[in-house]
Amino acid sequence: PAPGWSLDADIVVVGSGVAGLTAALRCEAAGLKTVVVTKARLDDGSTRWAQGGIAAALGEGDTPEQHLDDTLVAGVGLCDEEAVRILVTEGPDAVRRLIETGAHFDTGPEGVIELTREGGHHRRRIAHAGGDATGAEISRALVEAVRARGIPTVENALVLDLLTDADGRTAGVSLHVMGEGQHDGVGAVHAPAVVLATGGMGQVFSATTNPSVSTGDGVALALRAGAEVSDLEFVQFHPTVLFLGVDAEGQQPLVSEAVRGEGAHLVDADGVRFMVGRHELAELAPRDIVAKGITRRMQEHGADHMYLDGRHFGADMWENRFPTILAACRAHGIDPVTEPIPVAPAAHYASGGVRTDPHGRTTVPGLYACGEVACTGVHGANRLASNSLLEGLVYAERIAADITARHAAGDLHAGVPAPVAQPETPTHPLLPPEARFAIQRVMTEGAGVLRSADSLSEAAARLARIHAEAAGALADDGKTAEPGVDTWETTNLLCVARVLVAAALRREETRGCHWREDHADRDDAAWRRHIVVRLNPDRT
Ligand code: SIN
Repeated sequence: PAPGWSLDADIVVVGSGVAGLTAALRCEAAGLKTVVVTKARLDDGSTRWAQGGIAAALGEGDTPEQHLDDTLVAGVGLCDEEAVRILVTEGPDAVRRLIETGAHFDTGPEGVIELTREGGHHRRRIAHAGGDATGAEISRALVEAVRARGIPTVENALVLDLLTDADGRTAGVSLHVMGEGQHDGVGAVHAPAVVLATGGMGQVFSATTNPSVSTGDGVALALRAGAEVSDLEFVQFHPTVLFLGVDAEGQQPLVSEAVRGEGAHLVDADGVRFMVGRHELAELAPRDIVAKGITRRMQEHGADHMYLDGRHFGADMWENRFPTILAACRAHGIDPVTEPIPVAPAAHYASGGVRTDPHGRTTVPGLYACGEVACTGVHGANRLASNSLLEGLVYAERIAADITARHAAGDLHAGVPAPVAQPETPTHPLLPPEARFAIQRVMTEGAGVLRSADSLSEAAARLARIHAEAAGALADDGKTAEPGVDTWETTNLLCVARVLVAAALRREETRGCHWREDHADRDDAAWRRHIVVRLNPDRT
């Protein structure tokens, strides 16, 4: 059956964070008919929540080469050096263009951009805005620019599947729009180029810094479309997330690494700085090392959290430099000016994702990916702090350049797309929304900061049972959960969770943010390589 509504474009961008909106702006500026679709509102993704900032070699004496070195060390042997070199050399100019687009970064008295430090960086290299509200400022500037340029946007549009033509070329995406507006129900945007910029999958765990929209939709779509996905086992757990109790679920307040960058200390309940002596950079070691240090100390003390002590900053610094974090802590009854902040690690960032080449091309012709959904090779086994906004920016620009060149060369066109499946003819076993909590519990218990073959096998079996139940109902009587945002998100979460667990089980070593209790060491001989997954497109 034909979709209820459709639009035609040269390029459709799925997602509206730094990566998606940058790609859209650059494509539109090049004269391409561009449409942006996004699951909630334009500013509802992860970008808005980024605190610390954006890393680039902008400071006096800093060089892309030093930024490259820090990124490669953090990635523990699995970064693609070419991809990192592109990031660090094109990064400074990409940040300058972001400023031209309208983003305001914090500056010192001379108007020079202020730079801070974060884990794994050997120098001050992180530009920030509004103190600790960098993502909110970047999002504001990009959303305003997209509106000012009149780029058509469809909000509340959950992406379902990639549309392809008879030759397997990208022909657009199907969408389910829920809510008021011009477009309602299942429809499609037809375009020979699709840019996935759907963000991460933090909601696959019970506690995460990610907003509720981060449900792995792009990776799930790519898997269903037969694209290659890589490095999903490398989930980064942010070391310092405000601890609100062992049962806290959903998005948790982040306490930026920049707080440590400005000199706050990690301490245990006795006030001992336990990171000193564990790494030459102590609290500013790469993120995986700090998360492990905190988890170990928690185990040693039988504690469920540690503390971040920034009392020596004083009230003025807290108010001016970290207003967002101060407000979040105070909203939960903690005053960082007078007491240490309780913190524990929580899921933060997917270092892996849809595999791309240096132009952001995936393995499906016409399908591109950038930002957290992508695996460009920049992060390896552990992303360096504040490289994510930069990656979104740099690779979105590269994608726009590639699409523009291919369009001009007549190299991007698709035939008639396959029809869009309507909700009354379900092809996927959709999961009921309640299954989301079961998936999150399984993942937190079995595939969290510390993993083992036993915990991962148990997780895989529990996830398989959740899938079997939904698939059984569809096979028996054609029943599936009512299609809608919740059911699709839950279905996507299960899809990415199963691949993530399978990859984590397979990687029998400890490397970067993949920490195996039963394989405590890094094994370069066997595992200095990537786990790449491609599903049979007929599988769900
Ligand atoms: C933070 O501010 O600590 C987060 C920065 C990042 O995830 O890169």
